[in-house]
Amino acid sequence: MENKKPILIAQPTLPNLDDFVESLKVIWERKWLTNNGEFHQEFEKKLADYLGVKYVSLFSNGTLALISALQTLRISGEVITTPYSFVATTHALHWNGIKPVFVDIDPVYGNIDPLKIEAAITPKTTAIMPVHVYGNPSDVEKIEEIAGTYGLKVIYDAAHAFGVKKNKNSILNFGDLSVLSFHATKVFNTIEGGAIVCNDEKTKKRIDFLKNFGFAGETTVVAPGINAKMNELQASYGLLQLKTIDEQIKKRKKIANAYYELLEDIDGIRCLGDMENVKHNYSYFPLFVDASKYPMTRDELYFKLKDNGIHGRRYFYPLISEFPPYRGLPSSKSENLINASIIANQVICLPIYPDLDREVIEEIVKIIKQ
Ligand SMILES: Cc1ncc(COP(=O)(O)O)c(C=O)c1O
Repeated sequence: MENKKPILIAQPTLPNLDDFVESLKVIWERKWLTNNGEFHQEFEKKLADYLGVKYVSLFSNGTLALISALQTLRISGEVITTPYSFVATTHALHWNGIKPVFVDIDPVYGNIDPLKIEAAITPKTTAIMPVHVYGNPSDVEKIEEIAGTYGLKVIYDAAHAFGVKKNKNSILNFGDLSVLSFHATKVFNTIEGGAIVCNDEKTKKRIDFLKNFGFAGETTVVAPGINAKMNELQASYGLLQLKTIDEQIKKRKKIANAYYELLEDIDGIRCLGDMENVKHNYSYFPLFVDASKYPMTRDELYFKLKDNGIHGRRYFYPLISEFPPYRGLPSSKSENLINASIIANQVICLPIYPDLDREVIEEIVKIIKQ
């Protein structure tokens, strides 16, 4: 693969340029750039329809949506969460003055292990913030049961879970709130962007106030809100993305299936198969290297791929609990996070995006098999 363009883990899909230029002409004509414009309103409605959820509130990015979701429900004290995620999950807690309490993950899919949640609950616990990591649904039923028993709120970091369904129901319908990211590297992108999904109009209203400085009217501020609004250019871009998203996910599925087929039966290499009754979005293709069975360590394979122009990523290594801002927490101790430590040291996410050629997939697998 020498002298070829490097293959990155993700490549964004952009809308048709002529269509986007048409949208820009409309914006230029209307001269309304942000603050709940017409494209914004249309995108919120169409997105809710597409996702099969009640209410969507658009945001300028997923991190501000996470921070605002915690503000929406007035979460405080301690929140139970997973260390196996992108660091923004825990940062959102920190920015709200909340203490993160890390709980270990299940050793297969890498989502929070619901059987370990109860032991982490204290009188200060107010909520659980799980992540549907790689878009694979967390154990929403068990989490709901625990939250019900202890009177806790549940906010899902669903940054990876756009369009994911369980038993034909959107995974975003579980919990009190779900948060999406539309970052350029995600299955569905608005360049930067995100959203909070909620189930009732009153909550949607509060979220909309919060993302606009807390303004509830021209002269009324009801909460210490922030500026996290999505602008009209991104909303119009997002509307165009909705037209092709099904096709994009279909192409991703084909790529995942090619990887499954070609990576079968390699000692020490484990892939995640599809879950039963789940419609996946194939946002990531993680594989796990067990160095006791495979002839190399994860890092050796990672750098070998890199030397060959294949830029996978070690999502999620290191664990969030290992970063300096969080490593001093009592729940960050490695004996508390055994599965998370193992998986973080085994994972490589391989390139996956709609236009990835079969030829490249075969090349990647050849390197892994050599
Ligand atoms: C799990 C997770 N949470 C939160 C975020 C933050 O989203 P954003 O980049 O849109 O702020 C990301 C990705 O970037 C993510 O992967």
